Formats: sequence, C-alpha cells, structure tokens
Amino acid sequence: MLNLSRPRRNRKSQAIRNLIRETQLTPHDLIAPLFVIEGSNVKDPIHSMPGIHRLSIDLLVKECKELYGLGVPCVSLFPAIEEKLKTPEAKEAYNPNGLYQRAIKEVKNAVPELLIMTDVALDPYSSDGHDGLVDPKTGEIKNDETLEVLARMSLVQAKSGSDILGPSDMMDGRVGYIRDALDEENLINTAIMSYAAKYASAFYGPFRDALNSAPKKGDKKTYQMDYANVREALREAYLDESEGADILMVKPGLPYLDVIKTIRENTTLPMAAYNVSGEYAMVKAAAERGWVDGEKIMIEMLWSFKRAGADMILTYFAREAATYLNH
Ligand code: PBG
Repeated sequence: MLNLSRPRRNRKSQAIRNLIRETQLTPHDLIAPLFVIEGSNVKDPIHSMPGIHRLSIDLLVKECKELYGLGVPCVSLFPAIEEKLKTPEAKEAYNPNGLYQRAIKEVKNAVPELLIMTDVALDPYSSDGHDGLVDPKTGEIKNDETLEVLARMSLVQAKSGSDILGPSDMMDGRVGYIRDALDEENLINTAIMSYAAKYASAFYGPFRDALNSAPKKGDKKTYQMDYANVREALREAYLDESEGADILMVKPGLPYLDVIKTIRENTTLPMAAYNVSGEYAMVKAAAERGWVDGEKIMIEMLWSFKRAGADMILTYFAREAATYLNH
C-alpha cells in the first residue's frame, strides 16, 4: 500500500485553503503614503507613479476620510515643499505654520481616529537634497548637528497632531535623541516607527520625482545602508529598539524580504515593510503594457510582506488593495 504524504489534500477546495491559510492580509495592515502640496483643489499627478497625486490640503483631507472608510488605519504624509523655501539649514522643516504642519492639523481635525504618521528627515526642505545637514566645505553629512534639527521637527509635528514619527534619515542616535526630546515635553504618547534598516536604493527614484528631493550632489551611501548587508540591519534594529523605537521598519520592501525575516526573528517589536515608489512603479508599468495582471501582482506582493513577518505595510497600493480586499 502506497502511504504517500499528500499535501494536495489541504489544497483541494477554497474552503480547506481558507482554513489552513497561515497569514492574513486585510486593509487594517496598510499604511497609505500621501503627498501634500500648497494650494486648493490641486490634484497634481506624479508621472512615474500612475494613480498617485500631490494633493492640496482640502483634497488630502477628503482622501484620508475615504481611506479610513475603507479600513486603512494610518496614513504617512510627505510634503512637496516649494523650491524657494528650501535652504541648507532646512528651517522650513520646523515652521509651526508650514504646509506640513497645517496638513497634519487639518487631517487630525477632520478624521481624529485615523493615525497620522509623519516623516522626520531634512530632504524635502533641504536645498542640498540630503536627509541631514551638509558641511559646505567637505560635503560630509553632519550627524550630531542634524539630530538637533530632527528633534525640532519631531516636536513641531507631534504638537500638530502626529501620532507616529517616522525618522527616515538614518543618522546615528536619532531615535534616542528624538525620544528624549518628546519625553522632556511630556509627549509620551507620540510613537516612533524607525526606518531601522533603510538601504541606499535606486527604488526611491519616483518618490524623489514626487518631491523634487534628489540629492544635488553625491548619493546617500554614507547614511543609508549597503544592499549587500544583512547583519548590519540587525545592528541598526538593535540600536533603534534600545533607543526606544515602538515599531521597526525595513525599506525598500520587496527586494529585502530576507531582512524583514531576519529582524522578525530577533525582535519582539511590531515590524513594518515599506513597499516603496519604485516597486509600485514597476508593477504599474508592466500592468499598463498588459504584461502582468496588476491587481493580482499587487495582492501577491503585499502578502509576501506578511509572510516574511511584517505586521504592517506602507504602500502606494493602499487604496487599491483595501478596495480589492473589501469586495
Ligand atoms: C527620505 C525618504 C525617501 C523615501 C521616504 N523618505 C527617499 C530617500 O531616502 O531618498 C522613499 C519612499 C519611496 O521611494 O517610496 N527621507
């Protein structure tokens, strides 16, 4: 008698497949990155990200309401700052009445239950297009001087209503520095989702188009990580955890599933994956040509993050995926 082990028995019908499913994906897992721009009734398309726009605050608020209605619990906001406001010191970053702070307040006011995540890094406000302050003589990105600016930004964002700060700058020591600054002002309920392992990646191209934030000189390799490394990601994760991060993120997502899994096995903190702009653009481009089924690829891709161990996913597909998952 043939006593074969038959894994196919557990795949026989949709019912048994549903029963044995190891991971789930729901709109509650998604965080929608959104771009805000000055003006009213502005919906400015980002050409390298079909379906994604820079929105003025009024339309941003509308989008946030709709996302919350679809079950998306969190948005991550990014500001498209006018070129004339960008300076080497990135002072606009902590202007309490700046575009970003107004956007945070209005979204919080209109949809108080929706979590607002905000970005802590200098690049949208820096005339150098770097995440930290640049030494004009050497071109070096100054670590400790940058921390002070990041802390100021963090306080202004938290006071405007940000629920989760997302330091995306990769300066050493920034999580602890920001945590101290928040706690000193008794902002103990503002969380930090650290971009723990953020790689120097070509997958950010469309995002930099969206904000016109590409570095004017050089690259980001002295602060963002080398894609050849994974032990280094663990080191970054341990540091951010010990400095008080509430959630650890890996970015980009799809080419770094091994990094998500490795950190997952070494931390008890919740983890996020950032399915970045270039990953989105590739799927859209191929789908537009009819080369792949964009919707199916989107869902399969998002599921891979859950399988690797991410609890939540920042993705430009948030609206589309939530709509799909609700039907
Ligand atoms: C910058 C920042 C970047 C992204 C999020 N925050 C770009 C960069 O580091 O150059 C990229 C997001 C994406 O590509 O979707 N602090």
